Amino acid sequence: MSDKILINCSHTDGYPSNQIDAIPEQAVESFAGVGYPHAGGFIGEGSVVLDVGSGSGTDSLIASGVAGATGKVYGLDMTHAMLDKLAANVERMGASNVEPVEGNAEEIPLPDASIDVVTSNGVLNLVPDKPRAFAEIFRVLKPGGRVQLADIVIDSPISDESRNNPDLWAECVVGASLEDSYIRLFEGAGFSDIGVLRRFDYFSGSSSENTRKVAQGFGAHTVELTMCKEG
Ligand SMILES: C[S@@+](CC[C@H](N)C(=O)[O-])C[C@H]1O[C@@H](n2cnc3c(N)ncnc32)[C@H](O)[C@@H]1O
Repeated sequence: MSDKILINCSHTDGYPSNQIDAIPEQAVESFAGVGYPHAGGFIGEGSVVLDVGSGSGTDSLIASGVAGATGKVYGLDMTHAMLDKLAANVERMGASNVEPVEGNAEEIPLPDASIDVVTSNGVLNLVPDKPRAFAEIFRVLKPGGRVQLADIVIDSPISDESRNNPDLWAECVVGASLEDSYIRLFEGAGFSDIGVLRRFDYFSGSSSENTRKVAQGFGAHTVELTMCKEG
């Protein structure tokens, strides 16, 4: 991986300090999200939550505190290293309502209609088969269930040449979809009430000039979205 194009711009801007202070610093150190999905505000006491691509667990642990003892949080990730970090952070926090789950967003190992709220941060742009992943999210949600997510989308299409450039895979840009198509894919999966809470230039904080340039060239930005599965 070229050192020119490391992203290094993940930060917890947008997160209230009380939420960050309440979780282990080891979770925050490995945070790799791109926005603040909890702006959706859908998680409440007793919610059953699925964090798709939980990583080291910042959002799962925040959800754990809100959902409380009567709630449940599944932290889904396909990477063992991340699941190990999540499990360690769950233990540090004593968050007994969080269950790390190994699996792929394209084939979520949870039953139909079992989840109240799906949250996800900086993950779905990385998933090759987005229609399949979005259909899976729809499947596991209960009728009336909701999605809150932050992700990277782009404004200009990426050429095949750029898509095949392994260096550019290190950016959160190459797997990203045009914002419009991304939203249409969620509509195609059956979601309604799709709303954009916020867009911002996530990459402007990168220490790499090349990353900033590449991201700007494609109009790459964070979008925070909410939507629901009609009940
Ligand atoms: C950019 S990190 C974001 C992690 C976390 N959401 C956070 O905010 O810190 C992306 C995470 O998604 C996971 N991931 C990527 N593709 C996935 C997939 N298809 N299914 C499940 N997890 C996936 C990676 O292992 C990684 O932990």
